Amino acid sequence: MKRAMSKRKVAFLGLGKMGGILLQALLKKNLLSPKNTVATVRHPERAQKLSQELGISVTTDNRQAAQQSDLVLLCVKPQTVREVTEEIAGEMTSKKLLISIAASVPTHYIEEILASEVPVVRAMPNTPCVIGCGMTGLCKGKFADESHLDTAQTLFDSVGRTVTVDEKRMDAVTGLSASGPAFIYIILESLAEGGVKVGLPRDVATLLAAQTVQGAARMILETGQHPALLKDAVTTPAGCTVDGIMELEEGKLRVTLIKAVVKATERAKELLVAE
Ligand SMILES: NC(=O)c1ccc[n+]([C@@H]2O[C@H](COP(=O)([O-])OP(=O)(O)OC[C@H]3O[C@@H](n4cnc5c(N)ncnc54)[C@H](OP(=O)(O)O)[C@@H]3O)[C@@H](O)[C@H]2O)c1
Repeated sequence: MKRAMSKRKVAFLGLGKMGGILLQALLKKNLLSPKNTVATVRHPERAQKLSQELGISVTTDNRQAAQQSDLVLLCVKPQTVREVTEEIAGEMTSKKLLISIAASVPTHYIEEILASEVPVVRAMPNTPCVIGCGMTGLCKGKFADESHLDTAQTLFDSVGRTVTVDEKRMDAVTGLSASGPAFIYIILESLAEGGVKVGLPRDVATLLAAQTVQGAARMILETGQHPALLKDAVTTPAGCTVDGIMELEEGKLRVTLIKAVVKATERAKELLVAE
């Protein structure tokens, strides 16, 4: 599958933060070959710069990029999806696949613009894809089948983990795992700040905090145990951890994080409407 993928002609429409992360990660994993990959951006000067940096063809011509590709990744902002999809509609057929990573944009929105029965898969990755530790939610549109989902899964599995959900859950995926790294960075920054407050050098405090978050996350993923049980194992009766937990409870950390995910999910529903 990996070898077959590198032979496919792939177009990235939009090469900003997320498109750039995905493209570079997939090239690094040899899942895409530079000679079979093209990309587009809005600004010609950016196209020229990125083309030199990445060693692939980068232009501002979405139509031509879609015409010469059988797999198109749509990586523009939700507000730009209509404009770009209209441009490429004449080049898309039922033999091609369009994968959209745009938050908030339902597959039917894209299908309606494309008119012909083009398979569409919606993906919601996150920035840790850049180091192969991403999390991507996937769902398929009405003309996509399991093979199209498999293609998307092969791509995104190579840069982390994937989960397939009903499309109605995609905004929740956006609010949790796509926005989530930002929430965790704030937690990490604060833990490190705590370390500095109790006398640790900042670099040591940041290392302790980051490795601790990674270790705790891997414990959940690798043991499959409930986080509450793992927390109990750290919390010695009358020890120091329980005192720290009491501070977290008083500061309403739990409800704050729950509300952060709820708010981000609600906002994810609105991005397209805010056009
Ligand atoms: N950032 C994340 O963590 C994240 C996570 C999951 C999904 N997403 C989704 O990824 C998409 C892109 O987000 P981003 O953060 O990467 O945004 P971004 O950094 O602003 O990138 C947008 C890219 O689209 C290009 N573009 C704009 N109009 C275009 C057009 N008409 N034709 C071709 N390219 C065009 C821009 O070109 P220029 O470079 O010339 O300006 C830029 O490269 C969004 O839909 C977002 O919901 C983002």
